Amino acid sequence: MRLKDKVAVITGAAQGIGKATARLFHAEGAKLMLCDLEGGVLESAAKEVSAGSNSVNFLPCNVAKREECEATIQKAIEAFGHVDILVNNAGITKDNLLMRMSDDEWNMVIDVNLKGAFNFAKACVRPMMKQRYGRIINIASVVGLMGNPGQANYCASKAGLIGMTKSMAKELASRNILCNAIAPGFIKTRMTDVLPEEIKKSMLNMISIGRFGEPDEIAKVCLFLASDDISYVTGQVISVNGGLYM
Ligand SMILES: NC(=O)c1ccc[n+]([C@@H]2O[C@H](COP(=O)([O-])OP(=O)(O)OC[C@H]3O[C@@H](n4cnc5c(N)ncnc54)[C@H](O)[C@@H]3O)[C@@H](O)[C@H]2O)c1
Repeated sequence: MRLKDKVAVITGAAQGIGKATARLFHAEGAKLMLCDLEGGVLESAAKEVSAGSNSVNFLPCNVAKREECEATIQKAIEAFGHVDILVNNAGITKDNLLMRMSDDEWNMVIDVNLKGAFNFAKACVRPMMKQRYGRIINIASVVGLMGNPGQANYCASKAGLIGMTKSMAKELASRNILCNAIAPGFIKTRMTDVLPEEIKKSMLNMISIGRFGEPDEIAKVCLFLASDDISYVTGQVISVNGGLYM
């Protein structure tokens, strides 16, 4: 078991990549605090992941709201005594061409994808510094590296997350808090299900491995970055994109 007795907080854990990560972390012995905006779906995900054990806790939370993030970390500490791992996974898209993009579309995506990760990192960092141990994993995106038409807000949020990861890595390395990012390519989740068929087709043509990714394929890299195997790895962005972008 690679995460035995470690405590992990995962945001956006109700479905998709977050839920797959929760399932794998639980199987590897971690205690979990799961959060998501969608309380009902989160509750059933937590039940499914825990499979009757008492090592999975959950709290509905909007990552864009600082107080709610602090309350989630507080609850994790009350339940399990400490927090070792943070996976900033919650994310949204509000796609539009720049000339049509509203302030709301811009602000919402930045608030959830970038500020949300800042809020959770800030809430975790003090207890992690005290215990001189931490793993922070930010789920960025391939488009934060390569850009994408119609996603100026989303790409900016994910590129921002990469810059934040590197800064945090430099600030926190001396306290044994390692911060890394994952840049997934096209992964089969609710976020990509809604895309028009012709966009999916043109994406598929660009993927060297010739298929879309599964949430589990991101979860496995997340497990590696959460584990003790990365004692000399920080400030890195691991691309998991089937060769979509190199
Ligand atoms: N699916 C992909 O192809 C892909 C590619 C690159 C990056 N990503 C990133 O991976 C992460 C997970 O996405 P996914 O594909 O599993 O999508 P998803 O829509 O299945 O899951 C995202 C989860 O985040 C939650 N969420 C949204 N806003 C929130 C908020 N304000 N507070 C708390 N929770 C909130 C949603 O309710 C949902 O459960 C996101 O950050 C996404 O940007 C996904």
